[in-house]
Amino acid sequence: MTIPDYSCPKRNRQVLLVERPSGIPRPEHFRLVETPLAPLADGQILIRNVYLSVDPAQRGWAADLRNYSPPVALGSVMRALGVGVVLESRMGGIRPGDIVYGWTGWQDYGRLDLGDVLSSTRTPRAPISAYAGVLGINGMTAWLAFGALGRPRAGEAALVSTAAGAVGSVVGQLARAEGCRPLGLTGSDAKAEACVARFGFDAAFNYKRGDWRDRLGEAAPEGIDIFFDSVGGDILDDGLRRMRTAGRVVQCGTASIASWDPPPMGLRNEREVLARRLSWSGFVIFDHQSEFSRAIAGLESLIEDGRLVYDEDIEVGIEAAPGALQRLYAGENVGKKLIFIG
Ligand SMILES: NC(=O)c1ccc[n+]([C@@H]2O[C@H](COP(=O)([O-])OP(=O)(O)OC[C@H]3O[C@@H](n4cnc5c(N)ncnc54)[C@H](OP(=O)(O)O)[C@@H]3O)[C@@H](O)[C@H]2O)c1
Repeated sequence: MTIPDYSCPKRNRQVLLVERPSGIPRPEHFRLVETPLAPLADGQILIRNVYLSVDPAQRGWAADLRNYSPPVALGSVMRALGVGVVLESRMGGIRPGDIVYGWTGWQDYGRLDLGDVLSSTRTPRAPISAYAGVLGINGMTAWLAFGALGRPRAGEAALVSTAAGAVGSVVGQLARAEGCRPLGLTGSDAKAEACVARFGFDAAFNYKRGDWRDRLGEAAPEGIDIFFDSVGGDILDDGLRRMRTAGRVVQCGTASIASWDPPPMGLRNEREVLARRLSWSGFVIFDHQSEFSRAIAGLESLIEDGRLVYDEDIEVGIEAAPGALQRLYAGENVGKKLIFIG
């Protein structure tokens, strides 16, 4: 890996989206290019990206479908979050040396406007990689959505899918802290073991094994009070039929649905929602930016007190970016997936 020229960057390596994926983005949908770095405009900052984030949501951003945000234009830098160090600032309140988390794109250097900055700090309370994971949208989603939409009460059974991942592992620990009984679903025996040994789940099950439904039934014979679901599909269908009366379903993601075009058809579940008096809420973290500082401060304190642990899965070099989503969706990551390019 070449050592970047931090002092006076002139060239920028960028990962462009060049082909529209149908389903999970693969390396051939991207191209790595080198371009001249344009000068800063008033109100902008120049940051040297240190960690690029790899997020399941990028599959939706790359697709040409109506979503909560417009699709990435073909030929432009792949939309991505990241964390980096400010090299130059023409933005009030941000100085060179500050750590910024935001819409950096998959590239070496980002020129960010105010609206691209999700958080910034001069005095980080955790390693800076954490600001793109457990202190980024992943941890904040767990913190904000589980509390407000899960409405946990002590003694309740909380089922969490993608339980060993960046969001799910935090939800499990928050559920435990509220006195709930967290139960996890994840894609390997090793991840299921980590859920129990490391993240405080009561029990966790490998959904790729045939017996997970029976084992989950034995672990929660009276049913589930909170289902924090990030996968949808068959696992959601199963979970809805386990919900207790007045249970809460938090729809955080739909990782198991490879494509929404055409929309897949499943079981009819409306009777379960009605008869069980369920609340079924969708959550999008970007609706909650006014709460980010509070969420980050709360999560930082939990980490400092040793009450919140997290794993990171870090690849090295921007060349890793084009294949990173494929590996994420194959479940190869253990914890928050990042690419170190600093
Ligand atoms: N609503 C929001 O605002 C928001 C914000 C952040 C994240 N999310 C969602 O939260 C979920 C987790 O995100 P994350 O960043 O924490 O990623 P992550 O869990 O660290 O990584 C994604 C994981 O998804 C699982 N997965 C992939 N394909 C699957 C399939 N077909 N069926 C079941 N599981 C599958 C894999 O874990 P296994 O090995 O366990 O299968 C993979 O490791 C995603 O759905 C994401 O879109 C939502």
